[in-house]
Amino acid sequence: MQNSQQFDEQLEKVELERTLSRIKHKILVMSGKGGVGKSTIAANLATLLSLSGHKTGLIDIDFHGPSIPKLMGLEGKAIELDKQNKIIPLGFGDHLLVMSLGLLLKGADDAVIWRGPMKMGAIKQLVKDVKWGDLDFMILDSPPGTGDEPLSVVQTIDKLDGAIIVTTPQEISISDVRRSVRFCEKLNLPVLGVVENMSGFVCPHCGKTVDIFKTGGGESMASEMNVPFLGRIPLEKDIVEASDEGKPFVYFYGKSQSARAFEEITDRLLQNIKPQSTDKEHNLPDSSPSE
Ligand SMILES: Nc1ncnc2c1ncn2[C@@H]1O[C@H](COP(=O)(O)OP(=O)(O)OP(=O)(O)O)[C@@H](O)[C@H]1O
Ligand SMILES: [Mg+2]
Repeated sequence: MQNSQQFDEQLEKVELERTLSRIKHKILVMSGKGGVGKSTIAANLATLLSLSGHKTGLIDIDFHGPSIPKLMGLEGKAIELDKQNKIIPLGFGDHLLVMSLGLLLKGADDAVIWRGPMKMGAIKQLVKDVKWGDLDFMILDSPPGTGDEPLSVVQTIDKLDGAIIVTTPQEISISDVRRSVRFCEKLNLPVLGVVENMSGFVCPHCGKTVDIFKTGGGESMASEMNVPFLGRIPLEKDIVEASDEGKPFVYFYGKSQSARAFEEITDRLLQNIKPQSTDKEHNLPDSSPSE
């Protein structure tokens, strides 16, 4: 006879599978490096997908520095449960649902000590205990690096479509990204494409482009490593300001050149996603995330 722990695990597995079966595409946004714009890309990509009518979920799995609530202007919003005790995600516009551990912690500055297995449990909860319903896309925003969080996502979410790798153009960032590509290769996770962020700055005074962090590094790395390149986003003052004000850039600056760059990247991404998620098994390590 099964003991109660085995029964609970079985129940959790069934619930997780049921939730995931209602989400068509699951995409991880990651980078070996911090501060390169992963959360900005994840938030704007999710917003663009939702604006084109796709039902989209955005999950922040950065437990140490969750920034999605701030970027989406949802910081401090109260979270409610439905009658089945499922967490009701916060909405942005008609088709975007958002959830972050940052919204579930009491204060934005709460410091929590997370160990590997706890992260895995929390990621499972953010998927199965939240009322996502039917979604076309789920975008998962990772913290920097190739540690417990992206690994837990690959272990938890069956049939992930793949990863978007974000980089800035300079060499020091690119070498970290190579590690991300290898991480995906090891886990059999398709790389849906590389985004080169903060690529060139258009001077608002003279109109000239200054390549502060150089340009083209992400594209040449993508071609060298044989993974698709999705495009470049320039370094733009309005992106910083919109983010700080909690306004997704593409929603409030939809007519700008940088918003068009986000659109082109989204279009290329959609072309790189197979109509049905790959049935390929991910090569998972034997152990769970580091204890
Ligand atoms: N293209 C851009 N132009 C100008 N500023 C940008 C651009 N992309 C991101 N930023 C700014 O850079 C900072 C870092 O961005 P973001 O938080 O998205 O990076 P991250 O990779 O998610 O960081 P972390 O590794 O801490 O999770 C933010 O202030 C954001 O507004
Ligand atoms: Mg981030």
